[in-house]
Amino acid sequence: MNKRFHIKTMGCQMNEYDSDFLAQSLIKNGFSPENEVGQADVILINTCAVRAKPEQKACSFLGRMAGLKEKNPELVVGMIGCLAQMKGKELMKRFPLLDFIMGPRELEKIIDIVGEIYDSRQKIAVTGLKGAPPSPVNCPGYFQNQTSGFISIMEGCNNFCSYCIVPYVRGREHFRPPEDILREAEHLLSEGVREITLLGQNVNSYTWDDPDHWNFSSLLHAMGNLEDLSRLRFTTSHPKDLSDALLGCFQKMDKLAGHIHLPFQAGSNRILKLMRRGYTREEYLEIIEKLRTAKEGIAITSDVMVGFPGETDEDFLLTLDLIQQVEFDSLFSFKYSDREGTPAAKMPDKISKGVKVSRLQRLQDLQSSITLKKNRHLEGRQLTVLVEGTSKKGGQLTGRTSANKIVNFDGDSHLAGKLVEVTIQESYLNSLKGKLTGS
Ligand code: 5AD
Ligand code: SF4
Repeated sequence: MNKRFHIKTMGCQMNEYDSDFLAQSLIKNGFSPENEVGQADVILINTCAVRAKPEQKACSFLGRMAGLKEKNPELVVGMIGCLAQMKGKELMKRFPLLDFIMGPRELEKIIDIVGEIYDSRQKIAVTGLKGAPPSPVNCPGYFQNQTSGFISIMEGCNNFCSYCIVPYVRGREHFRPPEDILREAEHLLSEGVREITLLGQNVNSYTWDDPDHWNFSSLLHAMGNLEDLSRLRFTTSHPKDLSDALLGCFQKMDKLAGHIHLPFQAGSNRILKLMRRGYTREEYLEIIEKLRTAKEGIAITSDVMVGFPGETDEDFLLTLDLIQQVEFDSLFSFKYSDREGTPAAKMPDKISKGVKVSRLQRLQDLQSSITLKKNRHLEGRQLTVLVEGTSKKGGQLTGRTSANKIVNFDGDSHLAGKLVEVTIQESYLNSLKGKLTGS
């Protein structure tokens, strides 16, 4: 019988990419995708452990699935990803429906493990951290009708920021060979993808030395030479690794989108030091200057946290001040949460939930006013939009500008995958509304 699988993905773009890898591996081995979780023979939950909230979401999803095995005793349920790596064994005890857990560096074993469970019905845990990132599966047809795609160029992280669980659950930095990355890009383009985002915890540290020397900028240039590629993006970058060569790419490469996501995390030097970020606020501001000089109008987005242990009102005001000075296009903002095993979890002077909630609200209000102001400046301007398809609401076309702003406008669906010119008529917090002016 043809077995059906359902993958529930939580967390970041990296997990989306990993879920696509798992899905393609399963499809190549005769499984077929199933949208309805209750109808699936194999359920995979791809989890995130970076903050407390995604962890709670994964557990409540597992809780809701508890009755499914009574209906289908053959069902195989696996937890994948960072939370599986961090707490998988404990979670297998807490949620008896889990048949296996698999860390993010073990994805290549998916077919063997599902097969082994069908054979033996034993519980399995695979949590090695040394595995090289797998070679692409490139399942034909999987990305058809998709304008935008991701390629992971590295796994893991060597930075050990004091609050972060990533180096413990995804292991140390491990890059993928340039030929694998370019082969995967060629495949995505042959499927009709026109925009590729290179992914990694810290993409600017990319290096490869065999047989030729590659760094992140040479990889960007090689990607830029792919004829069918309309736009190139990357995320995430660490401020300490932002090289002059990368600034040069922003200056010279037409296909490189005018946007960078550059997490700053905090505006106070004292907190940045406790976080072990490896830069000061002055150095961060200097990098922003350089980026804006290299590429006029470049959109800058970032990640920031409130309520790191010991964060005083003055520290928090320095974070607000940095936001005001930089005027980010948008921000992902989080309440700090302890991650077991990290140095910050053992730090004194924890901040109460109430203080974190009110600081986050104040920060988000400030950022919303900046985002709205910046989006208003776009009204009346003509921008180049890469059309992604029809928007969920209202049947309009939707696409993104080079600065990664979402634009909705009337137009024919055959424009999907094309670069078109749109005049912005109205701006909102999370999107823009426009009128097609040419293609
Ligand atoms: N608590 C809250 N936010 C965190 N992040 C990472 N670790 C934590 C934590 N312990 C945030 C950072 C990072 C983003 C992916 O998640 O801002 O850039
Ligand atoms: Fe975590 Fe810091 Fe690595 Fe980002 S750079 S993944 S915050 S340790």
